[in-house]
Amino acid sequence: MLEFTFSTILGIESSCDDTAAAIIRVNKAGDSQTCSSTIFDQQNLHAPFGGVVPEIAARAHVEKIDQCARAVLEQAKLSLKAVDAVAVTAGPGLIGGVLSGVMFAKGLCAASQLPLVGVNHLAGHALSPRITEPIDFPYLTLLISGGHCQFLIVEGYNKFRRLGGTIDDAPGEAFDKTARILQLPQPGGPSIETAAEAGNPERFPLPRPLLFRDDCNMSFSGLKTAVLHCRERLTGRKKELDSTDQRDLAASFQKAVCDIFTVKSKKALTEFLSLEQYEPFFSVVGGVAANKAVRVALKGVANDFGVRFHAPPFDLCTDNAVMIGYAGGLAFLNGQRDGFDLSAKPRWPLDTLQPHLIGSGRKGAKS
Ligand code: KG4
Ligand code: ZN
Repeated sequence: MLEFTFSTILGIESSCDDTAAAIIRVNKAGDSQTCSSTIFDQQNLHAPFGGVVPEIAARAHVEKIDQCARAVLEQAKLSLKAVDAVAVTAGPGLIGGVLSGVMFAKGLCAASQLPLVGVNHLAGHALSPRITEPIDFPYLTLLISGGHCQFLIVEGYNKFRRLGGTIDDAPGEAFDKTARILQLPQPGGPSIETAAEAGNPERFPLPRPLLFRDDCNMSFSGLKTAVLHCRERLTGRKKELDSTDQRDLAASFQKAVCDIFTVKSKKALTEFLSLEQYEPFFSVVGGVAANKAVRVALKGVANDFGVRFHAPPFDLCTDNAVMIGYAGGLAFLNGQRDGFDLSAKPRWPLDTLQPHLIGSGRKGAKS
């Protein structure tokens, strides 16, 4: 058996509203060991505004990023001399946030002579199941977050094929907007999940758009509008939503999202299996993958197809720097070195061969 040496990577993430750093050891086979990780989440800063404010996010990243890097070195009991490379999210994301991380990483690399590796945030999510589970390429993943939604065949650490995705809102965005309509706190995903636990998912027949179409594309914006109309019918424009209605609407919304993922995952798996027969594997990644009902639904689909399934632990689903260190470590071990001309990219599709989906990614914090 081949033995691969491990490299120690400092990962930096600042593409939305989490400032994160991590130290991870990675080898070329994709084995890894997380040494330390920290996240400064900015939820309290954005809460009064009902959503992420890009300028506030960028400023908070600048204030916290060096503290996060220092903290993970201390936690791991390492000095910068023990680090082999700095991996930083270079996009896609809110440009001010991405710039804060990229500029910090460049400064650190200039001062310490460490190699710099720019990482695609989406690649970080797509590779994240391999941090906790041995998974060979290629595998199928459903990437669902606050700004993105796509089925990807992960063919290698830097090779991705998109089978389909959202044509309008991302599912995380739909959770966040629906929570606002239901007068639940942000981020919407966790608060809808909690409200839905005690709700009746069958009470409101919400739409499941595009299910009739024989492709892997999805749509979520009509769902949120349907929730708004239900609320208006229940309350009129001004009044508070009764807590039973709130729970039932949350449960009905979450069920509709799960149904969309279920039907479209069957299509994506069918397509994937027609291409790949050897030990096929399915995973779900990104912030919305932290939702337990979504995980159960997708595990059920994988079971029906006799395919292995893994959803990363919750703290690797939402934004973190462990996945950036991991993706950056694989790129570093395969020879990637970026110069000080590394740019921060607000958009950076993983599969550049696929056409842009109408309307996708134009809205939301990560557009
Ligand atoms: O991956 P992530 O942390 O950031 C992006 O790259 O966008 O995803 C954040 C999104 C938010 O929209 C949040 O509401 C959603 O993930 N989310 C959830 C849950 N936890 C976070 N959605 C549904 N259920 C959850 N438990
Ligand atoms: Zn993310």
